[in-house]
Amino acid sequence: MSSADDLKRKAAEAALEYVRGIPILGIGTGSTVNHFIDLLADFRHQIEGAVSSSEASTERLKKLGIPVLDLNAVGDLEVYVDGADEINPHLQLIKGGGGALTREKIIAAASRKFVCIADEGKYVDVLGRFPLPIEVIPMARSYVSRQMVKLGGQPQWREGFITDNGGQIIDVHNLEILKPIEMEQTINNIPGVVTVGIFALRPADVVLLGTPDGVKTLN
Ligand code: 5RP
Repeated sequence: MSSADDLKRKAAEAALEYVRGIPILGIGTGSTVNHFIDLLADFRHQIEGAVSSSEASTERLKKLGIPVLDLNAVGDLEVYVDGADEINPHLQLIKGGGGALTREKIIAAASRKFVCIADEGKYVDVLGRFPLPIEVIPMARSYVSRQMVKLGGQPQWREGFITDNGGQIIDVHNLEILKPIEMEQTINNIPGVVTVGIFALRPADVVLLGTPDGVKTLN
């Protein structure tokens, strides 16, 4: 039987096809993306640089000798490769388990193609079983939490965790997200919310799902 990590690795290998010949890559965050970064080692001389979604990915890229570039300096990107915590049949996602959702959403928005890599355990019919991460301005944490209770969720402060942007994270449990676009817009509009981890307004373009029988492509 394959472990979830084997399936992540398979998905990461399949993503190499999507970045061949592209000089500047958008790079996400997490254990699946870590496999992808490691696989880039063999091609590093063909890569001009990467725009990274977190300090953790930046460090890993730099260790391989891949220059990390500022998004402001490179403009729109051809392709962005990142993982997800949940994926529905419309390729809408929950992201932010690693707390990098704000930079991830910015890079996804600035990329022509978003290739999402994940193990098959991330695939769901309805988003919301995974606690929904929300990055907030610290002084707004309790206020945003109360608004999330009104929306039917059970917010929990990810205590002790500070994002790369100096924000805090609330993980909202038991929120069944039947209308992801509407829910993303509603939560985006709460004062103090920096980013909600629903990626529905800008979903993935391609999902590569590692399964024991090979990689399934959803698009
Ligand atoms: C980080 C993320 C990750 O993509 C998500 O948490 C999936 O992580 P992993 O690849 O470790 O399962 O959104 O903010």
